[in-house]
Amino acid sequence: MPTQSKSLHLPFGEDKNAPWYGKDILSVKQFAREDLEYVFGVAHEMRGMVERVGTFDLLKGKILANLFYEPSTRTSSSFTAAMERLGGSVIPINEVKYSSVSKGESLPDTIRTLECYADVIVLRHPETGSAAIAAKAAKKPVINAGDGVGEHPTQALLDAFTIFEELGVGEIDGMTVTMLGDLKYGRTVHSLARLLSLYNVKINYVSPEILRMPQEVMEEVAAKGIPQAEFSTLQEVLPQTDVLYVTRVQQERFENQKDYEKVKGAYVIDPQVMQAAKQEMIVMHPLPRVGEISPEFDEDPRAAYFRQMEYGLYVRMALLAMVLGKA
Ligand code: CP
Repeated sequence: MPTQSKSLHLPFGEDKNAPWYGKDILSVKQFAREDLEYVFGVAHEMRGMVERVGTFDLLKGKILANLFYEPSTRTSSSFTAAMERLGGSVIPINEVKYSSVSKGESLPDTIRTLECYADVIVLRHPETGSAAIAAKAAKKPVINAGDGVGEHPTQALLDAFTIFEELGVGEIDGMTVTMLGDLKYGRTVHSLARLLSLYNVKINYVSPEILRMPQEVMEEVAAKGIPQAEFSTLQEVLPQTDVLYVTRVQQERFENQKDYEKVKGAYVIDPQVMQAAKQEMIVMHPLPRVGEISPEFDEDPRAAYFRQMEYGLYVRMALLAMVLGKA
């Protein structure tokens, strides 16, 4: 469900009555099932346009400030590509150490600065809740590109779009989705579990004991009536799984590196392991991977993780167009 619109100056050609015009995108909790259908419809159109014409001028003259306090390859570059494919341009701040952040500038002041020059701000930040702080300071829309171990809503949207495009939009109800690996620190699985709870899916969580899905997320999902179960080994659930969502163990989030060493190689997906899985299923990963999926599995048609990155371009094109009143 869209949050309240920010009162933007309305340049010629934008539709201020468009449902997502001027909105922040901070959490998957903002989205109802009909909102997802809308986003995925726009993303599907974007895919068709990119395949037909490559680049077009829907957001010509618009500027995105791409502000990343944490490393990123996919999210940062796909937002850049999305804006440029729509005819807009980008202020890239991927190395905050070269910005006035290194002089001690606060997040709200950095946001107030960037919105003098840009129409929309994409923010990745190591602290949970930082996107909401930025959005409060901003008059322009803020899109959360990952806030600490909190949420990564645009990743969850592209993940759900991947499932729809790969397995069929009508097929998601009744599916079994298995999330594997670092479910404690993995913000992508926190967002995806919440988003999938809008559908009639069953969710399995497979992780080491110290990396279990947070209780808070499980309670939210349970409140929607979604069956969930926790396991420590994949073998128990792999044969019934329609979507296997693999995650990296996030070394950078561990306070004690000895704990990381104990769990870092807990699960490895390779062709031998995947013999127990269905032929009609997909393996996803938000990437980067660091050994949890063997490259030997990459050529398997069920390996959807590289296609998943491309779907991210279309979803982010859709989101930019929506918040700027062009979808
Ligand atoms: N999936 C994802 O967020 O990747 P990056 O960290 O490379 O942006």
